[in-house]
Amino acid sequence: MAASALTSEDDYRSVLTREFDSMTPENAMKWSVLEPNRGQYNWSGADAIVDYAQQNGKTVRGHTLVWHKQHPDWLNNLSATELRSVLKKHITTVVSRYQGKIRAWDVVNEVFTEDGTRRNSIFQQKLGDGWIADAFRWAHQADPSAKLYINDYNTEWRNAKSNALYNLVKSLRQQGVPIEGVGFRTHLSIQYEFPGCFHQNLQRFADLDVDVAITEIDARMATPPTEAKLETQARYFRQAWDACHAVSRCVEFTTWGFTDRHSWVPDTFPGEGAACLYDDSLNPKPAYYWLNSTV
Ligand code: XIL
Repeated sequence: MAASALTSEDDYRSVLTREFDSMTPENAMKWSVLEPNRGQYNWSGADAIVDYAQQNGKTVRGHTLVWHKQHPDWLNNLSATELRSVLKKHITTVVSRYQGKIRAWDVVNEVFTEDGTRRNSIFQQKLGDGWIADAFRWAHQADPSAKLYINDYNTEWRNAKSNALYNLVKSLRQQGVPIEGVGFRTHLSIQYEFPGCFHQNLQRFADLDVDVAITEIDARMATPPTEAKLETQARYFRQAWDACHAVSRCVEFTTWGFTDRHSWVPDTFPGEGAACLYDDSLNPKPAYYWLNSTV
């Protein structure tokens, strides 16, 4: 969800408050927003979301501590030793600030490429394979009560990427690293098939004794939307919902934004949009009505 809309749009805030029980900051907790210049913090958006959640009985999914995107430029020129120490400081500072107020953290985001190799981020380049385990340990020290997740996309079905993710989670669990959840972003497009065997894939991760969660679902389409496309979209949301409900360790079903007014889709996928449960004017779509009928 968008921190700016929370503070400036009454209709947005009222739908959020009425319909949802958890909030995920879309950008407000990303490193480039929190610490654009080294040592200079900007907590306004993140604090606004956490405060609102506390006052209104919502939980918060913290997103995201480490990502190869939206981190500040000043990280780029650090030595390995300095990068390690600022990474530890970043994780410790952010997680402790909201200690006890964040239900789950996306500790690391998108660490694999499509072929299942580790993404060549500055963290991977400079710190080597062990940085992910360290990130989880530091986060756990700062808030032992938060559920710590690894989060990624295109991992909904069995493929090279989800196999690599599976092997990493298995190995981290075997080493006693405090990883407790795997987030499946689930950015769907109705122009592609719904991910095959999603439920079985969720189950194999759950069998590693971790929670699994749908963390960012939306279902985009070529614009403009038509009645038929919106029906297909509703079916995709429903199939994802059913996949999650078929797995007892699937603990969360979170959408990436709820209104097309603020969706990331048109900027990222030109010509596509209408991916959320509500349209620009906050009218609910068929997908909303279907999900609402199940709860
Ligand atoms: C996106 C935001 O929605 C955009 O506003 C921003 O410009 C770029 O980042 N998956 C993620 C998110 O984990 O962090 C991305 O968020 C969307 C895809």
